[in-house]
Amino acid sequence: MSRFSGKKIVVGVTGSIAAFKVAGWVSTMTKEGADVSVIMTAAGSRFVAPLTFAALSGNPVLTDMFKAEESHAISHIELGQKADLLLIAPATANTIAKLAHGIADDLLATTVLAASCPVMIAPAMNSGMFENPITQRNIRLLMDAGYTIIDPAYGQMACKTEGPGRLAEWENAEEKILQNLTTQDLTGQKILITAGPTREALDPARFLSNRSSGKMGYALARTAVRRGADVHLISGPTTLLTPYGVKKTSVVSAEEMYAQVVQACTDCTVIIKAAAVSDFRPQNTATQKVKKDDAEFVLQLEQTDDILKKLGEMKEKHNYLLVGFAAESCNLREAGEKKLKNKNLDLIAINDISNNNTGFEANTNQVTLLDSDGFTDLPLTSKEETANLILDRISAQLASAV
Ligand SMILES: Cc1cc2nc3c(=O)[nH]c(=O)nc-3n(C[C@H](O)[C@H](O)[C@H](O)COP(=O)(O)O)c2cc1C
Repeated sequence: MSRFSGKKIVVGVTGSIAAFKVAGWVSTMTKEGADVSVIMTAAGSRFVAPLTFAALSGNPVLTDMFKAEESHAISHIELGQKADLLLIAPATANTIAKLAHGIADDLLATTVLAASCPVMIAPAMNSGMFENPITQRNIRLLMDAGYTIIDPAYGQMACKTEGPGRLAEWENAEEKILQNLTTQDLTGQKILITAGPTREALDPARFLSNRSSGKMGYALARTAVRRGADVHLISGPTTLLTPYGVKKTSVVSAEEMYAQVVQACTDCTVIIKAAAVSDFRPQNTATQKVKKDDAEFVLQLEQTDDILKKLGEMKEKHNYLLVGFAAESCNLREAGEKKLKNKNLDLIAINDISNNNTGFEANTNQVTLLDSDGFTDLPLTSKEETANLILDRISAQLASAV
């Protein structure tokens, strides 16, 4: 399922130089399944032709309140009442001021005033305009009225000045929009998630590691925040961007991961251990790089501390729900059953790592869940959708524990 599937979104485009960027936003949301209708202010349509938004959204663009009414196409009240979300992007200082004071002198402002759906506002303007106490006061008024502000970014403006006021980057805006469109069933939950591989140093240049990309753990972190959770991600080395709204602690070795997790676990309601922690590390780490001309290099390994087992032992004292992953290449169900029991887990996601489209590095996954209700095979789907299905099960367990 695409992220915006079945969502009705009204986008209000106002007279900012950043209007062209929102053409990309509309295109992405439409491709991801949203039904997008665009309303433009008169100034907005001086920057980008309404035809651009009509072509990208597949819907007519509305610009004039009276024309819309005359043609009986749609009333100024209807749009904001039928939508799941009303997003004003870019929002000029002028439109923000009008909305803050209930002025309804064009189709966009009237639609917002009459809207019964959530309203989000993405300001975009020169820093002087943005930092002006009048604009700041207007933004506070809108927040007090329950509107969500998508904070602008800091950077260079079209007018060559630098400061706050640039339209937010899509990656951040998208997360806030998805948050607004998602049921907040994990509000109040403090979720600790581990992700990625660990690296066990052999010498200053080499390490032992594994193929974990961190994608599954990061997908869990991103979707948990979207569903309202407070998420702390403890991650081994990956190339992934920290998901929006997630607190991240970076670690390298299994020993560092152990120390951080044991410290953080006392303060959370759910722990999801998706990291692929090294089971072994070199007994000795060379302080200088081992040279090729040394006759041979024999590695003596020792076991690392078992983080999941430790969390299982501490579970009753700290009262968290404990979820583990089993990365297996054979006898999946037996291995999962054994791990669930031995590590005192509430839920385990069993992962077949022998297929190219499941497990390490892939963007898709197919896991089997096991808890006190037995086995459930989840479909082969994106890691983000898999994360949502795992969180659905966690949410149900949390609800039944109340
Ligand atoms: C080239 C140019 C760029 C502009 N960029 C912005 C902008 O980024 N943000 C803003 O608040 N106003 C900007 N303005 C001023 C608005 O277009 C102006 O205040 C207009 O009345 C806004 O009308 P609206 O809010 O109904 O769209 C710009 C004006 C011009 C001529």
